[in-house]
Amino acid sequence: MKFNPDLVTIAGNWKMNGHIDTSVDVEKLINLINGDDANIILFPPYTLISQFVHISKNSILSIGGQDCHHKDSGAFTGSISAPMLHDAGADFVIIGHSEVRALHGKGSGNIMNKTQSAHENDLITIICVGEDREVRLQGEHYNFISKQLEDSVPRTSNRNNTIIAYEPIWAIGTGNTATTADIKEMHAHINNTLQDFDMFKKGNPSILYGGSVNPKNAGQILSINNVNGVLVGGSSLDHLQFNEIIKSK
Ligand code: 13P
Repeated sequence: MKFNPDLVTIAGNWKMNGHIDTSVDVEKLINLINGDDANIILFPPYTLISQFVHISKNSILSIGGQDCHHKDSGAFTGSISAPMLHDAGADFVIIGHSEVRALHGKGSGNIMNKTQSAHENDLITIICVGEDREVRLQGEHYNFISKQLEDSVPRTSNRNNTIIAYEPIWAIGTGNTATTADIKEMHAHINNTLQDFDMFKKGNPSILYGGSVNPKNAGQILSINNVNGVLVGGSSLDHLQFNEIIKSK
C-alpha cells in the first residue's frame, strides 16, 4: 500500500537541494528505515525522482514531486504536470507549499485544480496551508486557514488521497518552531473545519505539522493531539537526522 492514513506520516521536502550522488544517502536511509511502521516519503527535486523511485522500489520509502501544473501538457515552460510525475514513478505530490504560493501572490490561485489533476493521475496530495506572521499578529490566523482550506481542497479529496500540512510561514526555515499550544490549537481548528467538508464524512485526512522540525523537537510535536505526522525541510537533507525524526514517532 502506498499510503495508510491510520499510520504516522514522516515526509521530507528537499526543496532545491540534491544531486545524483545523494542517492547513496537515500540508499543508507532505506537500510535504516526498512521495517518501520509509518508512511515515509521523500520529495526530491524533479531531476532525481526517477532515480529515487528506482532505488526505493522494494522498500517502504515513497517518492513524490514538490508541485505540479493543473494541465496535463502544453506551452508552460518550466512546469511539470501530474501525468509526468506519475510517469516518473512518483506516488505523491505537494500542492500549495507557501514557497510556491508566494510566486502566485497571496491568493490560493489554482491549488484546487492542481490537486484535482493530481488525484485524476493517481497521486496522493499533501495540501499545504499556513499563515504569515502579519496574519497571526492580527489574530486572523484561524479565519485565514479556514479560507485556505475552502479554496484548496477539491471534491476529489478523501482521507486516502489527501493529507493536509499546516506550515506556518513564520516557522519555516527560521528555527522558530510553533509552540505546542500553537500547534495543538491550529490542528484542532483544522480538524474541526474539515469535519464540515462533505468529502470527509467518512473520516478526516491526516494533518501534518511543518516548520523547523528537527530530531530534538520531533518527538514532542508528534505527541500532540491531531498531529498525524511531520513535513520536514532542512533536517530531511541529512539521512541520519531524518532517520532520528522517523524513530521519534
Ligand atoms: P524547514 O523544516 O526547513 O523549516 O522547512 C519546512 C518546510 O517548508 C517543509 O515543507
